[in-house]
Amino acid sequence: MTETALKPTPERPGSAEKLEEWQVEFARRHYLRLPALLDAELVDFIQTGIDRGEFRERVHEGIASNKELCMTGNAAFGALLFLMNDEKLFQIIQDITQCGRIRCFEGRVYRVNPGQGHYDSWHNDIGDYRLVGMSINLSREAYSGGVLQLRDHETREIVGQVDNVGAGDAVIFRISSRLQHRITEVDGQTSKTAFAGWFRAQPNFLSMLRDQAERGRNASGSIRTRRYRLSGRRIEG
Ligand SMILES: [Fe+2]
Repeated sequence: MTETALKPTPERPGSAEKLEEWQVEFARRHYLRLPALLDAELVDFIQTGIDRGEFRERVHEGIASNKELCMTGNAAFGALLFLMNDEKLFQIIQDITQCGRIRCFEGRVYRVNPGQGHYDSWHNDIGDYRLVGMSINLSREAYSGGVLQLRDHETREIVGQVDNVGAGDAVIFRISSRLQHRITEVDGQTSKTAFAGWFRAQPNFLSMLRDQAERGRNASGSIRTRRYRLSGRRIEG
């Protein structure tokens, strides 16, 4: 994370009071919006990289029904991964959510287009040492739909929902066996583009990079079209 992105401001937990407010909100709602986690200059740099990026259709096999476009690796993706794998950010997320020790953030840039069957079904993301989910909006324009919803696993009651249309804003959300989440379909004319993934207890950042490099080598060029597996428990849609 850069200094600009993590610089304490009245909107960020530079004070005990703000931290406590965010802790209470996350405890109550199971999610929290972090405004301007990435500042405008950084967002612009990353969006420019995404504009030149290549997207491939991707289906997460661990989720009942879903489809999205996923950006293949490039400088913008590398920058995001590096920015989010920051000890100061890990500490803030741990303090807000009271989760265990975070050692890495793993994510992907995805895009969902209206009217193209891009959506995901209820699931919980549990597995692979995931502690807390996070999505950062990188869309150039405001989109409609694409809302994060959380529901109680037992009662199926929706317990929270949040949109995230400000460029550079992030939403973190709880991963728990008692909760499920999904992203609603995007409607209107505008696509949604986001960097989304999980803070994980294992592995550490360098080991994650080595694992990803190894997987890339083994895929030997077929990585763009293969289906990726999410090892979270399968949940009916
Ligand atoms: Fe998820």
